[in-house]
Amino acid sequence: MNPVTIESIDHEGRGIAHADGKVIFIEGALTGECVTYSAYRKKGSYELAQVGQILKSSFMRVQPKCAQFGMCGGCSMQHLEAQAQVAAKQRVLEDNLARIGKVKAETMLPPIYGQAWGYRQRARLSVRHVLKKGKTLVGFREKNGKYVADMQHCEILTPKIASLLPLLGELNESFTARDILPQIEVAVGDHVDVLVLRILDALSPSDEAVIKQFADTHKVQFWTQTKGPETIVPFYPLDAPELSYSLPEFNVTMPFAPAEFTQVNSDMNRLMVSRAMRLLASQPGERIVDFFCGLGNFTLPIARSGAQVVGIEGSDALVKRAGQNAEYNGLSDSTEFKAMNLFEMDVAGLEKLGRFDKWLVDPPRDGAIELMRSISAETAPQRIVYVSCSPSTLARDAEVLVHTQGYTLKAAGVMNMFPHTSHVESIAIFER
Ligand SMILES: C[S@@+](CC[C@H](N)C(=O)[O-])C[C@H]1O[C@@H](n2cnc3c(N)ncnc32)[C@H](O)[C@@H]1O
Repeated sequence: MNPVTIESIDHEGRGIAHADGKVIFIEGALTGECVTYSAYRKKGSYELAQVGQILKSSFMRVQPKCAQFGMCGGCSMQHLEAQAQVAAKQRVLEDNLARIGKVKAETMLPPIYGQAWGYRQRARLSVRHVLKKGKTLVGFREKNGKYVADMQHCEILTPKIASLLPLLGELNESFTARDILPQIEVAVGDHVDVLVLRILDALSPSDEAVIKQFADTHKVQFWTQTKGPETIVPFYPLDAPELSYSLPEFNVTMPFAPAEFTQVNSDMNRLMVSRAMRLLASQPGERIVDFFCGLGNFTLPIARSGAQVVGIEGSDALVKRAGQNAEYNGLSDSTEFKAMNLFEMDVAGLEKLGRFDKWLVDPPRDGAIELMRSISAETAPQRIVYVSCSPSTLARDAEVLVHTQGYTLKAAGVMNMFPHTSHVESIAIFER
């Protein structure tokens, strides 16, 4: 295979080159580098490949911190200097807005950075006893998705959870049966670290004893899940503090249950909420809606500003939690929560909700196109602050807002919620 020069990197952090009339996506290669590669998938117009020799190296290449980098599916950009990762994500955002949305922000906001390592407070870890290795592996899936990465440590999980990975493997080894625990869900709060054990069969008394001992030694709280999410219950210790995170700038504390959606990186979440609040600039007396409100992450800070807020969310459990959190923070009078499938929104549905001065929208990866298409003269807010975890759906929705609904894209920017991964979290503000 002839060496190629990498022209840019794509939204998954792969180097892009051209050879023999095809586009080659090369994992592990950076812009400007000259590399050899080996293709693992060949199609008519493109190939997927692994980097081979790096004949000319980028000045932005750094030594990955993690020994499993390249194998583990948890990260894909550790070989690129941290600030350059953010610059690459900003380019992905701008490219998507231009290519898919045919829009350009009047201003690009400076990126928001949090800590580069040890930030990840939510994770789903796989557990597998591997006969050949004579031990249990606990960690993320390998890139191929089939195997569990052999992780002795992890640089992106919080340091405490990372240090427990091999010990959790040993815990599984000490169980009566080594195949009843396929998964551990991690939820780190301000005052407690929760590990939810997905259990396929009843734990024996000796299993229960070793779990309790582990909890006492390592100061974690175990929960168990025997079937669906409704079976997630605390196991030991039962008197641990409640899971919660705080947003001190808004004097808000958010209790949550381990399976409920919260942002994975609470430091970045604080910065993100702060930025969203500045862009929204909510005022006392305004009526504001928080679409896809979850447990009230933006709703309660908005309510703190004196505005009246309606939070709308698809999960009944989260709607209930958001109501409880409003009460917990003394904000029940200025908030109201509704359960609604927002992917089924239409013009009449929006009109029924009434007109809001401003919208905060924070959808899942699918975006919020039905909402954007349903805006009418009766419901159009003056300002929309859109928080996105997928630049392509943000761009698609921006196209509707700008080219059909008469909005201007005032500003957009990236927030580095997931360092070393290719996930791009961003924020955009639209005005009419
Ligand atoms: C990216 S999360 C944001 C949650 C919240 N804003 C936060 O910051 O914690 C997206 C939310 O959309 C909700 N959701 C997903 N599909 C939905 C739908 N079809 N209708 C309404 N809400 C939905 C999820 O339950 C989740 O709470």
